Amino acid sequence: MTAPLPRIGVAGIHGHGATHVAAARALEASGRARLVAVADHRPPEVDLGDVAVFHDATDLITRADLDVVVLSTPMHTHLPLAYAALEAGVHVLLEKPPTPSLADFRTLVDASEQAGRAVQVGFQSLGSKAVPFVRSLVAGGTIGQVERYGALGTWLRTESYWTRAPWAGRRTLDGRAVVDGAVTNPLAHATATALAVADATTESDVTSLRLDLHRANAIDADDTSSYVAALAGGRSLAGALVLTAPRRSEPCVIVHGSTGRIVLWYTLDLVQVTTPGSSIAWTTSHQRTNLLANLVDHVVDGVPLLVPLAATGGFMRVLEAVRLAPDPSPIAPGFVERRSDASGDAHLVVRDVETWSERVVAEGRTFAELGAPWA
Ligand SMILES: NC(=O)c1ccc[n+]([C@@H]2O[C@H](COP(=O)([O-])OP(=O)(O)OC[C@H]3O[C@@H](n4cnc5c(N)ncnc54)[C@H](O)[C@@H]3O)[C@@H](O)[C@H]2O)c1
Repeated sequence: MTAPLPRIGVAGIHGHGATHVAAARALEASGRARLVAVADHRPPEVDLGDVAVFHDATDLITRADLDVVVLSTPMHTHLPLAYAALEAGVHVLLEKPPTPSLADFRTLVDASEQAGRAVQVGFQSLGSKAVPFVRSLVAGGTIGQVERYGALGTWLRTESYWTRAPWAGRRTLDGRAVVDGAVTNPLAHATATALAVADATTESDVTSLRLDLHRANAIDADDTSSYVAALAGGRSLAGALVLTAPRRSEPCVIVHGSTGRIVLWYTLDLVQVTTPGSSIAWTTSHQRTNLLANLVDHVVDGVPLLVPLAATGGFMRVLEAVRLAPDPSPIAPGFVERRSDASGDAHLVVRDVETWSERVVAEGRTFAELGAPWA
């Protein structure tokens, strides 16, 4: 007799959750699982056939008899919903960032262990085979001795992005931590991927952090940020993560070595290696495993998880430092230009922010340490 297929539910089906509904549908099409229910405060916009529809994630978790639930709801809902799922014996794909504080993170790690149920975190770039590939290049000495890791993201966000939801750009909402700034949310993958490349994924792997947080937009959280993290083993990671650039550039993780450099374009699964004498980077493309598919394989066949909750502890150390840091300092209006895109939506651009960001990752110093005039 064949075992019944794992029953999947998705909470939060609009926004990013739509990709999880599609992933569950793909698993269904390949006969590996079934999408049996969804939940959202807003009704589905498409006909979901015989899939049950709940208004709230709690009802989905307690009433739909699930094996796996995807939680793609706002960050401040993650701990209570994930906790409820684990108590109900359901495995969880939890969107990033896992929780808004380190204390909540530890509570959830314990709950997962006690329930004997998996929590996979939705850092999808960590499902890429590019990450172990870069680690193997570093271990093999392709770029000599590692001098520094870097996380570089220069994006723009329109003003409407910051007003789309009550929690957008907030550090707290109704007294609860939200931490929705450049480092911890929109560009969180940059730091998480850099830490994975550096094999610095647990809490104890990030030993200290120099943070330099600024904002140009009328928000509470940071939108123009840099940091230098000390990692176990005497290594370091410099991050420049900004949402106030003139354009959206592909974000990347960089490994600076004594005899070369590796760049991982983590949204594209591309790796470029530059060594002395090579004028054109050696470039390779890599496969990516979907994290819901990997969680189903884990539940059914015991395949190891690609992003187990405990392996986001290093990222959570960074998030906790941002949460506890003083408010980001406002950037003086003289350094900020307001530009409109084709649709008429405006976005703010900080003067020369791309150049300063490149210097952060190249030199391992924050904006303020480099002397950026607006920092
Ligand atoms: N991995 C990625 O690349 C990626 C990208 C974007 C967002 N995210 C993460 O996904 C999560 C959701 O972000 P978003 O931008 O899609 O947010 P969103 O606000 O656009 O969508 C969240 C959805 O959840 C629903 N919702 C909220 N509370 C609910 C509840 N208790 N029960 C049922 N539905 C509920 C809302 O109605 C909404 O439709 C966040 O954790 C975010 O950080 C991840």
